[in-house]
Amino acid sequence: MNKPAFFDVYRAEIDTALSRFLDQTSTSDARLTNAMRYSLLLGGKRIRPMLCLATAKALGTDSNKALHAACSLEFIHAYSLVHDDLPAMDDDALRRGQATCHIAFDEATAILTGDALQTSAFHLLTLDDFQQSDSVKLALVAELAQASGGRGMVLGQAIDLSAVGNLLSLEDLEHMHQHKTGKLIESAVVMGALCGSANTTSVDALKKYAKALGLAFQVQDDILDVTGDTQTIGKSAGADKALNKPTYVSLLGLGGAQDKLASLYETCLSCLEDLTDSDTSELKAIAQYVIEREH
Ligand code: IPE
Ligand code: IPE
Ligand code: MG
Ligand code: MG
Ligand code: MG
Repeated sequence: MNKPAFFDVYRAEIDTALSRFLDQTSTSDARLTNAMRYSLLLGGKRIRPMLCLATAKALGTDSNKALHAACSLEFIHAYSLVHDDLPAMDDDALRRGQATCHIAFDEATAILTGDALQTSAFHLLTLDDFQQSDSVKLALVAELAQASGGRGMVLGQAIDLSAVGNLLSLEDLEHMHQHKTGKLIESAVVMGALCGSANTTSVDALKKYAKALGLAFQVQDDILDVTGDTQTIGKSAGADKALNKPTYVSLLGLGGAQDKLASLYETCLSCLEDLTDSDTSELKAIAQYVIEREH
């Protein structure tokens, strides 16, 4: 599919800010700094920060009031990818079309890179140049911690590793996906709303949209592992099958996974219809991109 034009506008803003926040929060060790830059700045679709900015904008908030929140999500995401690729986890050699961090550097550096990106994510939410009140900053830290830690993404990753080779029920697979990928995507929307001024009804509708979108994102990731080629997806095609991972495709077949994706997209659109006071065109376009993306 063609990317909507606003993607490039957000992307430029996000990439400039990521580089600045890395400088503001990073280390004096040159090797570690290089590995952090390599893992954070080269490639990547920036879907989570974009979703955060688009949510804030739909609620009438200027994107520079949400940029720290948006980028904190990308720092956590980059850390999660570096650790996900480690030999002890998915043991992948290719990410975003280039060697994974532990191959380009070494395994210990990759572990430390993930650690440092994770702590920088929280550090940047506390910076003085983030123009939000202390209570909003605290709420953002709490939201990000819960979404990324042992109740969120890390829980999903733990379930993923223990599920290898096992036949999961559809319910358990959904639970795993909702945590390993869904929680951070939900948080992107929740954090965008925290930076804006959403009322309770809007937040409820946005959360439902984000829950369906987060699951859809991982269903499409499972599909692309089967239908994509290594060059286009920028990571090793067929990696899930090779590792015997439970996925939507392994459980429902390709057609079943595609049906699930279409129904999650419909759910996203119907949730946005409840946001009668907001311009949700960007959130709609992001949902369409998530289900049609080719990498
Ligand atoms: C890949 O995420 C890992 C999953 C959670 C499915 P993305 O597809 O967002 O990866 P990048 O950031 O664009 O490389
Ligand atoms: C990873 O899921 C989700 C994370 C929390 C990083 P995958 O293992 O399917 O992601 P890819 O396919 O390696 O990007
Ligand atoms: Mg994995
Ligand atoms: Mg992986
Ligand atoms: Mg995958």
